[in-house]
Amino acid sequence: MGENLQAPPEKMPRHVAIIMDGNGRWALSRGLPRLAGHRAGTENLRRVIRASVEFGVEYLTIYAFSTENWGRPAAEVKGLMYIFEEVIDRELDELHQEGVQLRHIGRLEKLSPKLRKKVLAAIDLTKDNQRLILNIAFNYGGRDEIVYAVQNMLRDGISPDEVNIELVSQYLFTAGTPDPDLVIRTSGELRTSNFLIWQSAYAEWYITPTFWPDFDQEEFAKALETYTQRDRRFGGVSDEFYE
Ligand code: FPP
Repeated sequence: MGENLQAPPEKMPRHVAIIMDGNGRWALSRGLPRLAGHRAGTENLRRVIRASVEFGVEYLTIYAFSTENWGRPAAEVKGLMYIFEEVIDRELDELHQEGVQLRHIGRLEKLSPKLRKKVLAAIDLTKDNQRLILNIAFNYGGRDEIVYAVQNMLRDGISPDEVNIELVSQYLFTAGTPDPDLVIRTSGELRTSNFLIWQSAYAEWYITPTFWPDFDQEEFAKALETYTQRDRRFGGVSDEFYE
C-alpha cells in the first residue's frame, strides 16, 4: 500500500467510482479553453489510476462522458471523443503492463466506428489482467442503463416473478462487478448526475471542492482514509448496539 495512505487494508474500499468534475472551471480560472481542462483532467487520471494500483483498489469506475454530455457544444464533444482515442493510443501499453483490465460501461454503438474499434481492441488486449479493473463510463447514463436492462429482460422473455434485485443487477453494464463502496465527486457539486444510480444505493460519498485536475494522490488518499472511518450500516444498525 502507498506510503501516504494510513488505512487498515481490510477496511479499504474494493470499488471506487469517481465523477471527475470541474475540468471546465479549472480551465476558466486560468483563462484557458475548456478542452485544456479536459487535457489536464486526463493527466490527473493517469496519476489516480497509478495511485489506485498502488493503494490496492480492485475496481475503479470513472465517469468520462455521460449520455447528457452530447448536449455540449460540438467542438467540446469532438474534443472529448478525440481525447478518449488519444488516451487509448498513448496509455494502453503501459496500462496493460501494469496489469490494468479495461472495461467499458455505456453504449458503444453511438461512438464512431474508429473509436469503437479501439475500445474493443483495448478491452480484448487487457481482458486477463487482474491488478485493477478500470471501468470507463463513456456514453453512459444510469437511467439509460436501466432502460436497456429492462428492454433486454423483456427480449429474453423473463417473467415478472423472476425479476428481483440480483437479476436486474445482472442485466446492467456492471454485471459481475461489486457495487461501488465509495463514490468521489470533485468540484463540490452535490448531485449524482445519473452516475451508477442503481449500484450506488448504499455507497459512501466523498465530495471535495477541489477541481478534478488538482485532485492529487494526497487527496485521493484522504478520501480513502475518510471512507475507512465511516460506519456502513446498509439500512441496519451497528453491531456495537447489540454487544
Ligand atoms: C466534467 O467536467 C468532466 C467531463 C465531462 C469529462 C471528463 C473527462 C476527462 C477527465 C478526460 C479523461 C477521459 C477519458 C476519455 C478517459 P466539466 O467539464 O463538467 O467541468 P465544469 O463543471 O467545471 O464545467
